[in-house]
Amino acid sequence: MYFLGIDVGTGGTRAIVIDERGTVISSASKEHTPFTSPKIGWAEQDPVDWWRACGTAVCSALKQAALRGDRIACVGLSGQMHGAVLLDEQDRVVRPALIWCDVRTEKQAQELTSQIGAERLRRLTCNPALPNFTLTKCLWVRENEPENWNRVRFLMLPKDYVRFRLTGERATDVADASGTLLLDVAHRRWSQEMLDFAQMDRALLPELYESPEICGRVSAEGAAATGLARGTIVVAGAGDQAAGAIGIGAISPGAVSATIGTSGVVLAATNLPSLDPEGRVHTFCHGTANRWLVMGVTQAAGLSLRWFRDQFGAINGHVDSYEDLTAQAAKIPAGSDGLLWTPYLMGERTPYLDANARAMLVGLTVSHTRAHVVRAILEGVAFSLRDAFTIFDQIDVPVKSIRLGGGGARSLLWRQIQADVYGHAVETVEVEEGAAYGAAILAGVGAKAWPTVDAACDAIVRVGASTTPNAQDSSTMKRAYSSYRRMYPGMRAILNENSTVEK
Ligand code: XUL
Repeated sequence: MYFLGIDVGTGGTRAIVIDERGTVISSASKEHTPFTSPKIGWAEQDPVDWWRACGTAVCSALKQAALRGDRIACVGLSGQMHGAVLLDEQDRVVRPALIWCDVRTEKQAQELTSQIGAERLRRLTCNPALPNFTLTKCLWVRENEPENWNRVRFLMLPKDYVRFRLTGERATDVADASGTLLLDVAHRRWSQEMLDFAQMDRALLPELYESPEICGRVSAEGAAATGLARGTIVVAGAGDQAAGAIGIGAISPGAVSATIGTSGVVLAATNLPSLDPEGRVHTFCHGTANRWLVMGVTQAAGLSLRWFRDQFGAINGHVDSYEDLTAQAAKIPAGSDGLLWTPYLMGERTPYLDANARAMLVGLTVSHTRAHVVRAILEGVAFSLRDAFTIFDQIDVPVKSIRLGGGGARSLLWRQIQADVYGHAVETVEVEEGAAYGAAILAGVGAKAWPTVDAACDAIVRVGASTTPNAQDSSTMKRAYSSYRRMYPGMRAILNENSTVEK
């Protein structure tokens, strides 16, 4: 039996085929048109582009595996969370999706908080109202584009739009739905109270499932676009963070993942919803029944490095790759000779929950080079992720092992920096295929290759390398982290005065 995992990311869609031993048989990706940011703080993508990319990626993955579509026993989906896909009565996309990193909705988030009350919000949804969450995006459209909102009949998350095109079903999973602010996370059901507060109709929302549950079959249209066989079963899947955690085996208490993709996430699995009274970390359902997760998010983790490469990576017409840049940065000592970076290019979630937070590069002298800046960026992203560990400590979430995912796991230098900054050994896994791998595992559970998600992870997820902190560099990083922690509070008033987010 073979299983297909599809991850509808921000930069592109990735499809991977695995077998019953968890071996990756093939993987293929198709880039998306980059998100547009027509105004500061805005981020929009065209959902139809995701569906097109999905078709291409799945066709290529099947071709590469030399498999006919009917050899795939089950399909699992994962994707960027929080985005608001709005469809009209004829299932046409009403306007481009406001995606996860769009923070124009601060006003709506604040209004919701004062209307409902922070404490009640936490009781209903386990989370505070943040501009990233789907509901605030809907409220922005209703307020600012009533002609668009009046046409909206269905609300979907990004991967669920792809599912809809693949199967014709309107469905989602509890892990992804947790980031809408419309889910009663503790009870794993839509929150009628939240719908009532927001004056939104339940009929807008898709059906809700646990991640490994089957919720549809590939339709004729879906089969034609992807090469899959009509009738292939499709499981609910999970938002990319829960799926990524499954893919690296972070599914039981004590197991923590630190993933650096476009965003950066430190995620811990828990047996009960674990809440931060200050709302600095998110409390969501995990991708397996009766399990939750708590996670801290850095908005611009990998995005910091990509931004640097795109803006400053070219010298004499040659654009340095990430590998070139990190190879240069590896020659710079820990602490970047006093240079510090806060990665708040898109505002920040953990720990500040502030759309007006801004990236800062502090401590430049004439002796610093481009390589220093790159190293400072890698360190700054790790400091920002470290903030989540600091909060886990405060709310008694145990950290026994740390597994790395994403670009931060592939770079030797970034692995060492993370071990030094977290002051804890970090592990990689043998198969590092991120959320797509988690989605494929969920597909395997749906097809009954494994009885549970835990059994699947036990059977196939293996630890690869372990990196231990370097004592001297770790103490340099400890000092630098203490300076880093004081940068944003010291600048907050100035940043707020100069806020440029268009609301
Ligand atoms: C999680 C989050 C991002 C997106 C994009 O809360 O906003 O990780 O899911 O990948």
